[in-house]
Amino acid sequence: MACSHPVPICLFLEGTTMTTPFDPIKVGPYELKNRIAMAPMTRSRAYGPDRSPSPMAAEYYAQRASAGLIITEGTQPNVIGQGYPFTPGLHSATQVQAWRQVTDAVHTKGGVIFAQIMHTGRIGHPANYDTPLTPTGPSAVQAAGQTFTPAGMQDFVVPTEMTAGDIRRTVQDFAAAARNAIDAGFDGVEIHGANGYLLQQFLSTNANTRSDEWGGSPHNRIRFTTEVVEAVAAAIGASRTGLRISPANPFNDIVEDDYTQTYPLLVEALDPLGLAYLHVMETTAPDLTPLLREQWNGVFILNPATPGSRTGAEQLPLIEGGAADILTFGQLFMANADLPHRLATRAPLNEADMSKAYGGDASGYTDYPALDNS
Ligand SMILES: Cc1cc2nc3c(=O)[nH]c(=O)nc-3n(C[C@H](O)[C@H](O)[C@H](O)COP(=O)(O)O)c2cc1C
Repeated sequence: MACSHPVPICLFLEGTTMTTPFDPIKVGPYELKNRIAMAPMTRSRAYGPDRSPSPMAAEYYAQRASAGLIITEGTQPNVIGQGYPFTPGLHSATQVQAWRQVTDAVHTKGGVIFAQIMHTGRIGHPANYDTPLTPTGPSAVQAAGQTFTPAGMQDFVVPTEMTAGDIRRTVQDFAAAARNAIDAGFDGVEIHGANGYLLQQFLSTNANTRSDEWGGSPHNRIRFTTEVVEAVAAAIGASRTGLRISPANPFNDIVEDDYTQTYPLLVEALDPLGLAYLHVMETTAPDLTPLLREQWNGVFILNPATPGSRTGAEQLPLIEGGAADILTFGQLFMANADLPHRLATRAPLNEADMSKAYGGDASGYTDYPALDNS
């Protein structure tokens, strides 16, 4: 395929064309215009009725429509799955209607957008629900640490251990949320299996101490994730279903003693389904990435672990070298809505203001200057 973008990042080698981050790629039924995707980022600004996104979100995501793929902030599939203040949901008609403004705005600008479905499990707090509830998880094991609540930082609580009925209902809630995402105009969904939230809690060796079919061996601990993925794929089609994982990520007090067994087993189980993609967020176990890449026959998205601050320039060769098909960037997209253009032209980058990452108004959200105005 001929490389069409104007910068010298296209390298031609003796008759073969190296794939560049600016080449298109097919993901499920969609032709993405480039291989630079926006990583999911919780922004805690769902101020609309019933935890629905506010009109600001439509502007924010539409500004970033030049990404090959936008993956939204984590979006809860049910009430109990909400871990943080002002995160949006995908479990009510009001929310579906509000998300429709977002997807319409992105599509008008030619973008492709997947909703990330995030159930936070034990990483929540009773103060973050409208009605008195206790977060649930695979086992009644409290996470070490504290979390954001409207009343400031508070200790995590002991979650209620999910019954078999809770587990089955939650799987169905993921499927229903995926159907809602399609009704809201999303092109697909990404299931959040990373960062110590519910799916990774089941995968872990410390948050999951169950002795039934969802606990114990790696084979049993991958069961919940495979059930969720299969249910979502059955609901909206495998080609519109992606999964994000973060092997061995200790975030949110996760321990995965046997991740070198668990993740290859999980990937082996899911590969035949023909999902839209597998999205690996690298943290402490980058050595596992090439193995998973080798195992996975579909599109492989990587959020690479890189020491120091990112400029994009040091990650782009990962596409050329074949380590991944698509790269995701979080903070760079937060601060640079026109990131693919900036990377293609090696233009200067705005820096993200992390003090405005969670909550607040348009400041630090939709007001980062575009290249022409910076
Ligand atoms: C403000 C913020 C919110 C985030 N929220 C989510 C989220 O909702 N879901 C998720 O999977 N990852 C989330 N992440 C992780 C990012 O997707 C990404 O993996 C991480 O920021 C590292 O990539 P980066 O260095 O390109 O930002 C978040 C990161 C940031 C900075």
